[in-house]
Amino acid sequence: MDFKKKMLAEKAKLIIDGKTYELPILESSYGEKVIDISSLRSRTGCVTLDYGFMNTGSCASAITYLDGEKGILNYRGYAIETLADECSFVEVSYLLINGCLPTENELRNFKMMMNKYALMHEDMIHFFDRFPPGSPPMSILSSTVNALSVFYPEMIDNPLEQIDKMAARLLSKVRTVAAFSYKKSLGQPLTYPRPDYSYCANFLNMMFDLPVAPYEVDPVIVNALDKLLILHADHEQNCSTATVRLVGSAQVNLYASISAGISALWGALHGGANQAVMEMLERIYLEGGDYKKYIEKAKDPDDSFRLFGFGHRVYKSHDPRSRILKNLCDEVLHTLNRSDPLLDLAKEIEEVALHDDYFVKRNLYPNVDFYSGIIYKAIGIPNDMFTVMFALGRLPGWIAQWKEMWDDENWRIGRPRQLYIGPKQRRFVPIGARNVCDEKYS
Ligand code: CMC
Repeated sequence: MDFKKKMLAEKAKLIIDGKTYELPILESSYGEKVIDISSLRSRTGCVTLDYGFMNTGSCASAITYLDGEKGILNYRGYAIETLADECSFVEVSYLLINGCLPTENELRNFKMMMNKYALMHEDMIHFFDRFPPGSPPMSILSSTVNALSVFYPEMIDNPLEQIDKMAARLLSKVRTVAAFSYKKSLGQPLTYPRPDYSYCANFLNMMFDLPVAPYEVDPVIVNALDKLLILHADHEQNCSTATVRLVGSAQVNLYASISAGISALWGALHGGANQAVMEMLERIYLEGGDYKKYIEKAKDPDDSFRLFGFGHRVYKSHDPRSRILKNLCDEVLHTLNRSDPLLDLAKEIEEVALHDDYFVKRNLYPNVDFYSGIIYKAIGIPNDMFTVMFALGRLPGWIAQWKEMWDDENWRIGRPRQLYIGPKQRRFVPIGARNVCDEKYS
């Protein structure tokens, strides 16, 4: 599919030193106006400054649309709610990477390819033995995915010709790496992937099957995992996706680019928030449930504590993923006939925060990470694997965005500008004559 950018007749006007410059305005599919400043420096000598890229677009993309004010999230034009209800994660992965929902035949072929590439090179299995006990699974995941480029270098020369193979390989292998790293952390024997199982059933079986206690696949859990992964599958130019694109823009291969994205996702302000939410809820619960104390801490400007799972750079109303996950929590616990006091606690915190001036004024709502951990916990996944689960879900989005970038005729190496505030030319002092560095910025 070829989507063209729409340029408006209207221009933005910028006045610098009394001179007016006209800048082109582009329009998104939904009518959002985007000022194109790519010629700014050559015409005016100026660059722009935008900490955290609050207002800066880095690409044109046809993959994901989100409206942060209305709480809308679509993949390739389909509402996330519909996809979560009607599709499997593999179908949604195909959609993101290829632009269209697969036919039955296309889906069958895609699954066959994933089964074909599900195994890991046996030499890679030694990797897991070399990490010290207690290594964070995100570190193992990032290193192992990077190493895939060494084990499968044939994929690297003509990436777009091989993208289907690379996508299938990554989707199936990252799932295997994630499950193996968990098994190794417990000192348990590895369970290999099974071609007769669906993507999620296979993952759960690799995680929990034991020679002494075979894992029984529960459709309720498989369905919940499918939904969780779909909800995480893409989110336009977030921190890890922007990282994948930026690293890839230097012509780095897909595996290494995604390994960088995994590292970005690890942070507590991004994907690491799901683990931080669970640890926060557990701490509050163990301390007797006084969540109001934590809400006060989060509001205190002198305290660095934040209410994890709240707030979002783009959503200034409800995160649609959080709403679906809240219902899914209830559904999963109810069907499994379980209860979790942490879910009650999370709901109470949400209720109080949503009526608290501090959160209301700043448009802070629960995000995707607020409820996801409670479902992971019900499935049996431990806290330190939560962000790995996020990575597993985000994988098709990273692949799709990397592919789109390689295919884009406007693609250039990503290279931001800066506002230099350091010293001007300094006098060089030979080492023997130097004083302690007490004149840092003189
Ligand atoms: N708890 C308390 N205060 C908050 C929170 C929070 N969770 N989030 C934002 N604020 C306050 C912040 O202190 C600031 O207040 P003030 O204007 O008085 O200085 C204001 O709200 C704006 O915050 P910001 O940090 O400038 O907003 P941002 O767009 O740069 O950051 C965020 C977005 C997600 C990093 C932030 O909301 C946050 O740290 N949330 C907690 C971590 C979290 O849940 N992250 C997951 C994000 S969603 C999934 C993902 O991306 O992976």
